[in-house]
Parts: sequence; structure tokens; C-alpha cells
Amino acid sequence: MKKNRLAGIFFSITSILIFSCTNTDIQECNVIPEISSRITNSHPCMPNGVLEITSPVNVNYSYKIDQGKFQSNPVFEGISVGQHTLFVKDDRGCESSKEVVVDTIPKGIEFAEVAAILKTRCATCHSGVNPHAGMDFTKVCDILTHWDRIQARAVEGNPSPMPSTGLIPIAERTKIMDWIKKGHAF
Ligand code: HEC
Repeated sequence: MKKNRLAGIFFSITSILIFSCTNTDIQECNVIPEISSRITNSHPCMPNGVLEITSPVNVNYSYKIDQGKFQSNPVFEGISVGQHTLFVKDDRGCESSKEVVVDTIPKGIEFAEVAAILKTRCATCHSGVNPHAGMDFTKVCDILTHWDRIQARAVEGNPSPMPSTGLIPIAERTKIMDWIKKGHAF
């Protein structure tokens, strides 16, 4: 009697397990081929990177980047520096993804020299949690945005020199002007 009850319980549990494993509501997904992509690096402040999914590409797939929407075009433009996730979805709704990293385009020699000068001459006051005038001259984008104010204060001393103790050596001011004349680019 006791044995029969146990057998009954065992049978019920087994049928639940079998039922859930053979439940045909769960559609089996096709294996999506491994995602291949082509990466074009980005400017550090103006996102202009490009991510292109090169495989799998055909009409059965749609594509998405990060939190975006699925689209038929496998090319994404205006992408920022950093890690991104590419998604591929097939016509049955099965998805696959891949992590990719967009790097920063290489900096020019003029910018590198100016950044080094500002780091030595300005960073004591213009960096950290509360930089003077809200300008952090160890940050690439702050330097690029405020090139005209850097010229005014550090090269021309207008309305007063920066640092306030006196203008930096002429050789360094010349390097700042060379960078500005060439278009104050990254
Ligand atoms: C000893 C601290 C100190 C150093 C070093 C220093 N600054 Fe400043 N900076 C200040 C303070 C304080 C202010 C805000 C008061 C002012 O504008 O005069 C300021 C403001 C500024 C501003 C914003 C005001 C404007 O005119 O647009 C710029 C730009 C600037 N500094 C550039 C520089 C540059 C470039 C260097 C390095 C070559 C530099 N500073 C070095 C203290 C410093």
C-alpha cells in the first residue's frame, strides 16, 4: 500500500518532467553563424566610428546595436569609442550577439605635444574632481572644446595670463599656436 503511493508520486513527478521537456511551445532555434564585423575607429569626442556586420548577411537577418532597434541594414554609423554589442536576429526571431570594441583614432603629433604641455603647466589647477573654471585639461574633449580660451589665456595673456604667475615659455606657446593654426584637431 505504502509502496504503491510512493510509486504513484514518482510516476506523477516523472510525467511532469517528461511533459515539460517535450513541450512543443518552445520553438527550437537555428544556429546563427558566428558574427563577423568590420570596425572603423572613432574620434574621442565626436562619435564617428562605423560598425559593419559582414557575416551573416542576407534577407533572413536583421541587425541591432546595443539598446537600438532591429534594422535590415547591417551598417551602423556615428558610433562612440568603447564597448558595443552587435545583435543578429533571423526570421524565426532567434538572436545571437557579439561584443566589439571601437578604439580611438590615433592622435596627431601636434595635439600630443599640446596635451603634454597642458598636463605639466595647467593640470595642478585644471583637473580632478573640481577643476578651475570647470575645465579639465587632462581631458581630450575639454582641450579640443576650449582651444580658443587656451589661446587667449596661455598664449596671449588675455585678459590675464594663465597660469596667473606668468606665461609659459615661448617655445611651448609656439607649439600651442602651431596646433591651433593647423586646425586644433585631435
Ligand atoms: C595655479 C592655478 C592655475 C593654473 C596653473 C592654471 N590656471 Fe587657468 N584658471 C585658474 C583659475 C583660478 C581660473 C578661474 C579664474 C579666471 O578665469 O581667471 C582659471 C580659469 C581658466 C580658464 C577659463 C577662463 C577663460 O578665460 O576662459 C582658462 C581657459 C584657463 N584657466 C586656462 C589655463 C591654461 C591653458 C593653463 C595652463 C597653461 C592654466 N589655465 C593654468 C587657475 C589656474
